[in-house]
Amino acid sequence: MSRTLICDAVEWQDLKGNVEEIKRMHLRDLLADVERCKSMMVEYDGIILDYSRQCADQETMEKLFKLAEAAHLREKINRMYNGEHINSTEDRSVLHIALRAARDSVIRSDGRNVVPDVWHVIEKINDFSERVRSGSWVGATGKPLKDVIAVGIGGSFLGPLFVHTALQTDPEAAEFAKGRQLRFLANVDPVDVARSITGLNPETTLVVVVSKTFTTAETMLNARTLREWISDALGRQAIAKHMVAVSTNLKLVEQFGIDPNNAFAFWDWVGGRYSVCSAVGVLPLSLQYGFPIIEKFLNGARSIDDHFYSTSFDKNIPVLLGLLSVWNVSFHGFPARAILPYSQALEKFAPHIQQVSMESNGKGVSIDGIPLPFETGEIDFGEPGTNGQHSFYQLIHQGRVIPCDFIGVVKSQRPVYLKGEIVSNHDELMSNFFAQPDALAYGKSPEQLQSENVASHLIPHKTFSGNRPSLSLLLPSLSAYNVGQLLAIYEHRIAVEGFIWGINSFDQWGVELGKSLASQVRKQLNLSRISEKPIEGFNFSTTTLLSRYLQADAGLPPDSSTSALPKI
Ligand code: F6P
Repeated sequence: MSRTLICDAVEWQDLKGNVEEIKRMHLRDLLADVERCKSMMVEYDGIILDYSRQCADQETMEKLFKLAEAAHLREKINRMYNGEHINSTEDRSVLHIALRAARDSVIRSDGRNVVPDVWHVIEKINDFSERVRSGSWVGATGKPLKDVIAVGIGGSFLGPLFVHTALQTDPEAAEFAKGRQLRFLANVDPVDVARSITGLNPETTLVVVVSKTFTTAETMLNARTLREWISDALGRQAIAKHMVAVSTNLKLVEQFGIDPNNAFAFWDWVGGRYSVCSAVGVLPLSLQYGFPIIEKFLNGARSIDDHFYSTSFDKNIPVLLGLLSVWNVSFHGFPARAILPYSQALEKFAPHIQQVSMESNGKGVSIDGIPLPFETGEIDFGEPGTNGQHSFYQLIHQGRVIPCDFIGVVKSQRPVYLKGEIVSNHDELMSNFFAQPDALAYGKSPEQLQSENVASHLIPHKTFSGNRPSLSLLLPSLSAYNVGQLLAIYEHRIAVEGFIWGINSFDQWGVELGKSLASQVRKQLNLSRISEKPIEGFNFSTTTLLSRYLQADAGLPPDSSTSALPKI
């Protein structure tokens, strides 16, 4: 591995020159060049990517492909697919692609073909979820388990929540979910516990504890809280029927009191934020929708895995997206990216991608530990359209320049057409999807406003400079298959960005710091509550706030904490 930084490569410097030329052009003019626009549209397996509204031209793209070569992008992708330990700080392979590989494929980590292990767990999930769904696996009082609470946080929560939210309104998936509920408990805030169990009966509820490490403080406290909720109502022996686990740490699962037979494994080579295709997502989602639906989701992701691996860069959707993100962050200096799905079913997509992207690429050093003289990663945020339009689009149109991902769907999951309306409800939504990118690109000039007889004192306020970049992804529908495709496109795009920047997109040391800091406070709170021990070891600010917090009777004594849980 070379110890040089990508920003020292001539290809990087070349792009620095190109960006100055591009800055002199306006998207209005770039969009008038039909040949350019044609070259900036690609299609794969029903998905269209249109990146003609990027502040870039064909020369930029050529230079970005050269940058990819200089960064050894192809070799890095191959190393990932070959199971090499590209997560070097944790000495691990990065093989989420194996989670959706065809049964007969061979993908090795440390010499071992991991695909049979993956399929062994998939079969176990298929069997277990079918038994629960059919009512052959029943709770301690003999009732079928129709409700599931998945307890987990970060990657053990956001991906499954995104997929669940996307499938909830898919007619096919919804049919299979009839009479069932899937809820999530992530935050250690007891309010989240209350929300997750309100209206549920422990007799008919299955709790799935999802934690790669089985040590995450929030998840373990939430898991203990729900264990108490079940055993208070049904007795300790009910745990065997009402709690199962997903983890890489099967020893701790057993110590917690969950039967190892009811544990679903995954492996160190699956990063938490890349784990939705492991038992982390596949178990709770199969319990809700049945495995055949979730298999379609895995197949969609696999289709993109194949495309990413084998397609030339100029037609490769995740590669193009990744290169354009590098272009926007490192050369234009745009710090953020808005993820704007014109689909309410994708309302949890941006929160999921926030973790995948920001935990992966928010790094300060190269993979070899060299401090970076450039920023990596972007601030990801987003809301479904049109809600976002009535929230933060003002800033996007007239304030800061934020590259936008517009994600649209051709066929609505739930079409509505009201007699007498000029368009269907979905067409109304999609009118915005098509209009917004052009509004951002073209803007509105003072001359146009004058010709519309706008009062002169309002002209500066109503002027839009335009030249604001976006890209559009158009999906044929939002079936389980398409949801899998969308997930994999973004996972690989984020990996491409990291590969170009030369960072490790698969570790998360920044998060570890926060984890260890909280433990010191936790210890202090415990000692102050039980023995009135004075606050020690904190700065003035924290000491003041802690003492104010402790003065009020904010916490329940540890031994009566479960008294707040509702009884059946
Ligand atoms: O948020 C930090 C993190 O380490 C994530 O990477 C991970 O997804 C999450 O914690 C949960 O970890 P675990 O699955 O081990 O409980």
